[in-house]
Amino acid sequence: MRAVAAVVRSGRLSPAPVIGQFEAAVARTLGTSGAVAVSSGTAALYLALRALKIGPGDEVLLPSYVCAALWHAIHAAGATARVVDVDPETFNLDPDDARRRLRRRTKAVIVPHLFGLPADLEDLLALGPPVIEDCAQTMGVSYRDRPVGSFGAVAICSFYATKLIAAGEGGMVASASSTLLGRIRDGRTCDEQVRLVPSFNFKMSGLHAALGLSQLQRLPVILARRRRIARRYDRALAGLPWRRPAIPADRGHAYYRYVVRIPGGVDRAMARLLAAGVTARRPVFNPIHRYLKQSGFPVTNGIWREALSLPIHPELTERELQRVLSACERIAHRRGRP
Ligand SMILES: Cc1ncc(COP(=O)(O)O)c(C=O)c1O
Repeated sequence: MRAVAAVVRSGRLSPAPVIGQFEAAVARTLGTSGAVAVSSGTAALYLALRALKIGPGDEVLLPSYVCAALWHAIHAAGATARVVDVDPETFNLDPDDARRRLRRRTKAVIVPHLFGLPADLEDLLALGPPVIEDCAQTMGVSYRDRPVGSFGAVAICSFYATKLIAAGEGGMVASASSTLLGRIRDGRTCDEQVRLVPSFNFKMSGLHAALGLSQLQRLPVILARRRRIARRYDRALAGLPWRRPAIPADRGHAYYRYVVRIPGGVDRAMARLLAAGVTARRPVFNPIHRYLKQSGFPVTNGIWREALSLPIHPELTERELQRVLSACERIAHRRGRP
């Protein structure tokens, strides 16, 4: 609140010095050298694709099990989205299926680190095309002792209201390449151009940057709280039929979501939790291949049927958490019974 009020009092809402400070802080968190603040994560993806000169005739790989923002960004850039299945343990892009769907026209791979867990970066980078790391759900976490966001040609973030760093709305594109950063900086504004190039306004305001920066400074606390709640779920669900998140030994987890797999499907558990006053939802509204009416995504189909996201917000009180945990234990025990 104080940080936002300071921007208002300064009279410089946009552009504002705090935007540069937020950019530098995000670049540090992602372990890269520069970043450009934009209006949303979707805008960040679009600008990243444009900076990589991806357009009509090009293909971009993306996982099926992810929000539709990725497909929209690829479509807006004029490229073709090629959907890839995911890994059954990590829910992230499956490198083997990605390799099968690779074409000569494949010009980039968008790699989300889903629910807070880094994807299989080594194998995905080995595919060849530039990787756009989608850190919308994962910041401040390492893969093989290096922060996510530092591996791909570009990384993007989202600061939407429910994200780890919540500024209401907002996004960021980060990269170690000054050429790419320059293109993204040019692409986020359409004002005062030397030549009239078709563009749009994708800028972030100083108010959002102030909120984002103050949250980013609290990221270690936010992650510690989320991990503490995750450990409580781990303990409560041990030995019960709901499968807990698997974390490979070479990476951390931000627990943006705590996603369990419920054999047989989530519908009954979701209704029972709601009746107990607990809102738990499918973490992905609808997989991309289902929107596109494509077949051949057996792993995503299985996960979509069985994956349920349990409440893990860092502001959850002890009483609320106790209520959720005992509802989960009760309902997981009742599997199969009406
Ligand atoms: C993995 C992922 N990528 C991109 C986005 C898009 O971010 P935004 O909502 O800020 O446009 C989101 C959030 O919705 C997301 O979860």
